[in-house]
Amino acid sequence: MIDRLMMGLAISNSMITPPPLLVLLLLLFAPLLPVSISVSASAINRPEVITSTHGAVAADDARCSAAGRDALRDGGSAVDAAVTVALCLGVVSPASSGLGGGAFMLVRLSSGDAWAFDMRETAPLSSSQDMYANNNSESKSSGPLSIAVPGELAGLYKAWKRYGKLPWAKLVAPAINLAQNGFQVSRYLRVQMESAINGVLSDEGLRQVFTINGTDLLKVGDICYNKRLAKTLQKIAKQGASVFYNGSVGAGLVADVKKRGGILSMEDLRRYKVKVTRPLSADAMGLKFLGMPPPSAGGAGLILVLNILSQYGNGNGIPAAAVAGPLGVHRLIESLKHFFAIRPNLGDPDFIDDSKVLSDMLSPTFAAKLKNTILDNTTFGPAYYGDKDTTTWTANRDTTTCPT
Ligand SMILES: *[C@@H]1O[C@H](CO)[C@@H](O)[C@H](O)[C@H]1NC(C)=O
Ligand SMILES: *[C@@H]1O[C@H](CO)[C@@H](O)[C@H](O)[C@H]1NC(C)=O
Ligand SMILES: *[C@@H]1O[C@H](CO)[C@@H](O)[C@H](O)[C@H]1NC(C)=O
Ligand SMILES: *[C@@H]1O[C@H](CO)[C@@H](O)[C@H](O)[C@H]1NC(C)=O
Repeated sequence: MIDRLMMGLAISNSMITPPPLLVLLLLLFAPLLPVSISVSASAINRPEVITSTHGAVAADDARCSAAGRDALRDGGSAVDAAVTVALCLGVVSPASSGLGGGAFMLVRLSSGDAWAFDMRETAPLSSSQDMYANNNSESKSSGPLSIAVPGELAGLYKAWKRYGKLPWAKLVAPAINLAQNGFQVSRYLRVQMESAINGVLSDEGLRQVFTINGTDLLKVGDICYNKRLAKTLQKIAKQGASVFYNGSVGAGLVADVKKRGGILSMEDLRRYKVKVTRPLSADAMGLKFLGMPPPSAGGAGLILVLNILSQYGNGNGIPAAAVAGPLGVHRLIESLKHFFAIRPNLGDPDFIDDSKVLSDMLSPTFAAKLKNTILDNTTFGPAYYGDKDTTTWTANRDTTTCPT
């Protein structure tokens, strides 16, 4: 039942970007799980390794993993579980997911048919090429001008319409419950609040949610309530995505953003379109991998790194041998450095042609070339990494929007 859909979900948010390495590592190891392989006993005994015959849900907050698991138990599809998890994370870990952000979703059906949902944020209609150049340097990453047209809810709703089995409201319910009745602040949320403390303290709404008395941030274990988000989620549970993209929630958002000097409009929300395309597909180490195509860099990066590591030889197609021990970690890090050096050459295919870079990144020959530049006894300065024959650097460097 659950095996009907195998899917991975990578959420990103324009306001606070998760550490790219972490996301990549999740991508690196996640696709290996469904493959039946013999992992060493020491790996199996590690607490983060679980095995299950009917399905598994992994989020970066256990409360949301549990909500997703319950969706599966109630007869939901993997998409139902993923939607539940994403909405839940938007409450307990708002730097990881949220109605104001964007996301990618990869869905593979039991038939083998697979789809990539691009629900990334887009630029508002009245944005312009130079709008950040003339504004202060911060305006690109924070403040009203940095707010793009949110895509996450549209994408989750579309995926549910296609592949959901449970009623929509049921998927929103755990998020409403946590926002309305409170949840304990996790260590991760506290770290996120600390890193955004100036933003939190200078905003009346955020102060109400994340501080004790307007000056002190909530501590780990304190109960956090977000009753206004609960109200928003209740409307979304009842009316679906249209209340956000063509209704009162969207109108409220646009009014707030405009009041602060932003350029988001109702027209932007009405025109937002989720893109559904085919995933990247590539063979590496004798296995077939599906990944998110650009504008995500994760899929191509995963294949490149696996192809580099597989040059070291591997036991029964398992890359674990290549990355074992301190030398393995060194090789993994060096491979990742190559990936991050090449990554700025990718871009949004709606605006630039990055097909050459992409085909390089998927090519075992290209990976072999990079592998030969990795030495087991030393590391190098930043300029050393990447492909020396690639000359497109400057063209895309400043325009890349590629999230991992
Ligand atoms: C900043 O960007 C906004 C929106 O594009 C624009 O109206 C404004 O003129 C810009 N500010 C400066 C100082 O250029
Ligand atoms: C509340 O605010 C005051 C300063 O205005 C501060 O001294 C106090 O420690 C804060 N925290 C709590 C839990 O009351
Ligand atoms: C927005 O809602 C109005 C009715 O409130 C409807 O006529 C219109 O077709 C909707 N537009 C879109 C893009 O859904
Ligand atoms: C590192 O290894 C390479 C060959 O693999 C060798 O040429 C070089 O001398 C070594 N460097 C050091 C510092 O040991």
